[in-house]
Amino acid sequence: MRLLRTLMSSAARAITIPQQVDYYCKFSPSPLSMKQFLDFGSENACEKTSYMFLRQELPVRLANIMKEISLLPDNLLKTPSVQLVNSWYIQSLQELLNYKDKSADDSEAVKKFTDTVITIRNRHNDVIQTMAQGVIEYKDRFGVDPVTSQNVQYFLDRFYMSRISIRMLLNQHSLLFGGDIQVNPAHPKHIGSIDPNCSVVEVIKDGYEKAKKLCDMYYMNSPGLELTEVNAKSEGQKVQMVYVPSHLYHMIFELFKNSMRATMEFNTARGVYPPIHVHVALGSEDLTVKMSDRGGGVPLRKIDSLFNYMYTTAPRPPVGNTKAKPLAGFGYGLPISRLYARYFQGDLKLYSLEGYGTDAAIYIKALSTESVERLPVYNKSAWRHYKTSHEADDWCVPSSEPKDMTTYRSI
Ligand SMILES: Nc1ncnc2c1ncn2[C@@H]1O[C@H](COP(=O)(O)OP(=O)(O)OP(=O)(O)O)[C@@H](O)[C@H]1O
Ligand SMILES: [Mg+2]
Repeated sequence: MRLLRTLMSSAARAITIPQQVDYYCKFSPSPLSMKQFLDFGSENACEKTSYMFLRQELPVRLANIMKEISLLPDNLLKTPSVQLVNSWYIQSLQELLNYKDKSADDSEAVKKFTDTVITIRNRHNDVIQTMAQGVIEYKDRFGVDPVTSQNVQYFLDRFYMSRISIRMLLNQHSLLFGGDIQVNPAHPKHIGSIDPNCSVVEVIKDGYEKAKKLCDMYYMNSPGLELTEVNAKSEGQKVQMVYVPSHLYHMIFELFKNSMRATMEFNTARGVYPPIHVHVALGSEDLTVKMSDRGGGVPLRKIDSLFNYMYTTAPRPPVGNTKAKPLAGFGYGLPISRLYARYFQGDLKLYSLEGYGTDAAIYIKALSTESVERLPVYNKSAWRHYKTSHEADDWCVPSSEPKDMTTYRSI
């Protein structure tokens, strides 16, 4: 009997990681709503239930994106940085699979699982920078054609979105059940990383102050802030919502840095720096934050490319210098901020008046029941993105003026 058990367990262990990935990627991730996150945390948060959900859901989310990593162009996959990121994913999946057969009644296992969750969260701290480094290594060495560039953009959007979602799950579990203190003394009302009464204006003011500090450091000056708030749902009341303040802060801070840089650069000659206007509006469906600057704007032709990873008009900042934070330079500010907005079914859009300024709008679902995670899933259509060669454009490419117009006149 013992021999049989040993044989069975070694057979189970013999299942390789690629096989596990193939198995788990067949499950679709289960998106949670903000309300579910909240209900779960507020009503007698149960570590066992969280354990049961996460020990299946985390391998599913990891495997879904690992499958896409494996479809990246070989030369990108082989860069040391992408290899490193891949090894973190493999190790984390392996660690999670150790809990596959451990019952939720095994309190020792449930406790250890929480430690594993914290270890995984820390292991993945530098994923964004490391993956970005991999893409730089690849571009520097092999250059990029438009098709690869499009594929990489498609992949990074999904990869970083998957990471945001996995981190949300890891954070909630470790904040609710890790360590002795289950209530954050600075924010006793927060449920993990969620603030049920997140004051949008407070986050905006905070983001403005932090960006202003950086701007003052670089330009010895900075634009002011004019803020208006409209609550169409309950007039006169301040705008609040159920949200992850750190996500909102990330978006606001990135937009402020961009607007400040544009304002300072565009108005250098005049030496007068118009303030940045921020409007907050709460309607029945959307909560919108619109940031308007007078930093000279961007031509329409370029607007889409601003959301490309690595697109920047700032000089590349030195790597590894953590003391001096740059105001701009990685080209990740807008694309990652848009992912945060989209993660709970919102969006981030830019509208520009070239020669004048830019409006950036963050849209967030006003109702927590509608703020549901938006997750990438590996399936046939995702696979097709990596494997199908892109066909010719079905719109004419504008070419130079025909030389002899007389030929056309007679038609
Ligand atoms: N409000 C704005 N006005 C004018 N140009 C802008 C504005 N916001 C963004 N841009 C342009 O879009 C580019 C990309 O912005 P993004 O925030 O993604 O990257 P970045 O600011 O260059 O670097 P970082 O990753 O440090 O944010 C900027 O370099 C800038 O040229
Ligand atoms: Mg930026």
